[in-house]
Amino acid sequence: MPPCRCTHSKGPMSETHAARLSEENLRRIEELKKRYPHPQAVVLEALWMWQGEHGWISEDGMRYIAHLLGIPDHHVFGVVSFYSMFNRQPVGRHKLEVCTNVSCMLRNSEKILKHIEQRLAIKVGETTSDRRFTLVEAECLGSCGTAPAMQVGDRYYENLDPQKVDAILEGLK
Ligand code: FES
Repeated sequence: MPPCRCTHSKGPMSETHAARLSEENLRRIEELKKRYPHPQAVVLEALWMWQGEHGWISEDGMRYIAHLLGIPDHHVFGVVSFYSMFNRQPVGRHKLEVCTNVSCMLRNSEKILKHIEQRLAIKVGETTSDRRFTLVEAECLGSCGTAPAMQVGDRYYENLDPQKVDAILEGLK
């Protein structure tokens, strides 16, 4: 067990964190830690595993990861707040990330965003009541040549128009 640097507790991990990672992911983290001189190098992978299991990363989850790696809580909090791929609140089954950066904006991403808002009856940052979709704005997705673009999970959708968006949403169960 790594030394605990949690700011809220010095007790054993099992007593301080209700949710935890699966045994399989804990084993993977131990393997990864052996590859680097400092466990801090594993923080992205560990957070990604956490999000894969829990869907989002609560403050308790961040403390758990810090505890697991034996690194300060504030380092993990900083990483989570820096990367938009990490969800800091519960999200729907499909997170719709619509790029509204310059190239997409010039190619009507605002219209795409409004179309989704109207179709799903939610605003940016909200989740549908059936918890199927969450809509967020994204910074440049690196797909400027095929703007406007949207990312859903690990898939990209490009050259969007309202009809394409409707077909995509219908295909996401
Ligand atoms: S500006 Fe939207 S993908 Fe680059």
